Amino acid sequence: MSSSPHKDSWNTRFGVILAVTGSAVGLGNFLRFPGQAVQNGGGLFMVPYLIAFLIVGIPLAWSEWALGRYGGQLGKNSAPGIFRVLLRRKSGSYVGMLGTVMPVLIYTYYVLLEGLCLYYAWHYLSGRIPALGNDTGEVTAFALNTLGYFENGHLFTPEGSELLLFVGFCFLLNFALIYRGLSRGIEKFCLYAMPLLVICAFLVLGRVLTLPPNPDTPDQNLINGLGFMWNPVQEEGGSIFQTLSSPKVWVAATGQIFFSLSVGFGLILTYSSYLKKDDDVALSSLTSVAGNGFCEVVLGGMIAIPAAFIFLGPVFLSDPGNTGTFSLGFMTLPNVFNQMPAGGFFGFLFFFLLFLAAVTSSLSMLQPAIALLEEGLGITRKPSVAILGFVTFTGAFFVAFFSKGTNALDTIDFWMANFFIFIFATVQTLIFGWWIGKDKGYEALSAGAEVRVPKGIMHVIRYVSPTFLLIIFFFWCRDELPKEIHRMTNVAPGEPPVALISVGFIFMVIAFFAFVIARANRRWQEPEQETTS
Ligand code: ALA
Repeated sequence: MSSSPHKDSWNTRFGVILAVTGSAVGLGNFLRFPGQAVQNGGGLFMVPYLIAFLIVGIPLAWSEWALGRYGGQLGKNSAPGIFRVLLRRKSGSYVGMLGTVMPVLIYTYYVLLEGLCLYYAWHYLSGRIPALGNDTGEVTAFALNTLGYFENGHLFTPEGSELLLFVGFCFLLNFALIYRGLSRGIEKFCLYAMPLLVICAFLVLGRVLTLPPNPDTPDQNLINGLGFMWNPVQEEGGSIFQTLSSPKVWVAATGQIFFSLSVGFGLILTYSSYLKKDDDVALSSLTSVAGNGFCEVVLGGMIAIPAAFIFLGPVFLSDPGNTGTFSLGFMTLPNVFNQMPAGGFFGFLFFFLLFLAAVTSSLSMLQPAIALLEEGLGITRKPSVAILGFVTFTGAFFVAFFSKGTNALDTIDFWMANFFIFIFATVQTLIFGWWIGKDKGYEALSAGAEVRVPKGIMHVIRYVSPTFLLIIFFFWCRDELPKEIHRMTNVAPGEPPVALISVGFIFMVIAFFAFVIARANRRWQEPEQETTS
């Protein structure tokens, strides 16, 4: 039998909380959240958001932390390994497969956006973006050109390749940190990056909160900007009740909770599997959830939209095309910074903080696969990093090459961060609530807890969360799936069917991990017999 690779562990409790918070705080907090909120009822969005937070966000975070620590005690760190020992059968490892596949596929486009943040930060410092001036058309064209939006393969031409230098740097940085390991790589980086990004965010927030009104249009002032973000907005011609009963608003709020808290992807499962038997999970998960909420609602919710309101006005922001994650970040906000006093400096700070937030998130997307390769194939860090490096490089190359209309990126994002995330989140809740069961589940959650865990939580996890998830998933499938299938199959004449090819690519990655898991199952045969006998 091949030798077992060295088992990694966290150094301090503060370090693991920071790493999980780092995984949660990302582009979702500063760009996705404000866009989703203004597009779905402004202040009213907070009603489904808070309900989803309470009945799926916290229960899922608790389930994932507890499941992960439980699996770690049985000697496994990857989702397939953890589900195999928890379900005590080979097929369990395939149930956990999504907890490895999703993070890897999300990483393939996330690293591109991470590189873009660094590229923007750099070009704010160099003065290239401020030099574009106040022409919104030029700023937009710059962003789209940079990402190769108009032509497949553009990023691999001499004029378009600059972004790839930054993406390559991010790629190497992520893998260097992963190679150093949990405590020397991820934990140490988060220890510096998290406070630094919060300081940057406070500086940018301070600038936004002291902005004078737009002299030409005095109504475009800070108070109205905050109101634009936070006042309850009813759907056109509708009532508050109509807005709140719109499935679209609930689906958006629940999706945002998942994406932002990093629950339902298998990330926390792996991170918490490195905890010790009596390490607290209840308070630690609440602390990281609260940290993420602060960065999202307070920092994310008060920077982008109020600032954009002052310089660009309500009509500009009412067009959803200007508040999507990519458009808000790389088209709308550069227009804002270009008009803001000392905007070059604040633009740099903002994109640098996005870069830090993105790295702390993308690191957590690599660790689940590293854990599987190491414990499943019995290989050490070097070959596991090399194998995962090859898989993610191929994926990132694929997304970067098929850049036209961000088609490959959108397709992978749709299936991973929208579709599979619901499935995996529901599976995890059901396994924790029903397979582990009420009493053992409660025990797993409250062992070592530094806060009293309400007994009723197991009822929420068993009944309320899965029911809520299934209802939301039903509406999502009804409303969003047909649109996506139409987009995927509606290929313009002469164009390659990129969305379909992207789905093929997703299947290839799934096949690769299924192969790894099949190999791992052979290796795990022996220990499994020991643990179940
Ligand atoms: N939770 C991470 C984010 O918000 C993935 O970007």
